[in-house]
Amino acid sequence: MGMAGFLDLHSHVLAGLDDGARQLEDGVAMLRGLGELGFSEVFATPHQRAGMFLPEAAAISAAHGALEAARAAAAVPVTLRLAAENMWDDVFFARLSQRSFPRYDGGPAFLFELPVQQLPPRLEDVLFELRVSRMLPVMAHPERYMPLWKDWDRLTQLAESCALVVDLAALDGAHGRQQGKQARRLVEEGVAHACASDVHTSEDVRAAGAGLAWIKKRLGLAAVTRLLAEHPRRIVAGELPDPVG
Ligand SMILES: [Fe+2]
Repeated sequence: MGMAGFLDLHSHVLAGLDDGARQLEDGVAMLRGLGELGFSEVFATPHQRAGMFLPEAAAISAAHGALEAARAAAAVPVTLRLAAENMWDDVFFARLSQRSFPRYDGGPAFLFELPVQQLPPRLEDVLFELRVSRMLPVMAHPERYMPLWKDWDRLTQLAESCALVVDLAALDGAHGRQQGKQARRLVEEGVAHACASDVHTSEDVRAAGAGLAWIKKRLGLAAVTRLLAEHPRRIVAGELPDPVG
């Protein structure tokens, strides 16, 4: 890779917590595959989603420890780090006043997702309040939100108050036609700040590789490096990078 390698801001490699890895070996296989794609650091981001997937801190910590031990035993050369994918729901809001939702390394940045069919009320207001308090909200798969498919202006506005992190596999069409179109536009027009794997299975690693190949072919190696290495590290540090033009 030359430099430090890619940093993955979004993955479901921890086993038995949600719809991600089922067995420990699945998580190890995903980490190995991501390493082969050029990732040197991977954040595990288990779901925090009320009524669906809400593993407790102790379970997450145990799953993280188990995968780290298995990774080390298998000599997979990837640094495993821990965050979460926070759904914008009642649990999130209950944690909001204390900023007690899980963040990247407990720092200023945190990953969130929204319901895909309808955006929550006061979205921009809450994002603004978070930015004022020096947090960096990181939006997962911005290509997926249906109300934004026909509202490009709102999407570009959102890009000024949170980091937009496109799923690599969406670029290859793995998540649907509209999602693919939107993902490619976000990257081509330099509105996306970064890309991530969002892997749930080993098959997803292949699809992420296809998306990565698309960026390289369409925009060149420098764009790959910005979207997968430089910008993810700045995001984790709490910085909103300039768009990739
Ligand atoms: Fe995810």
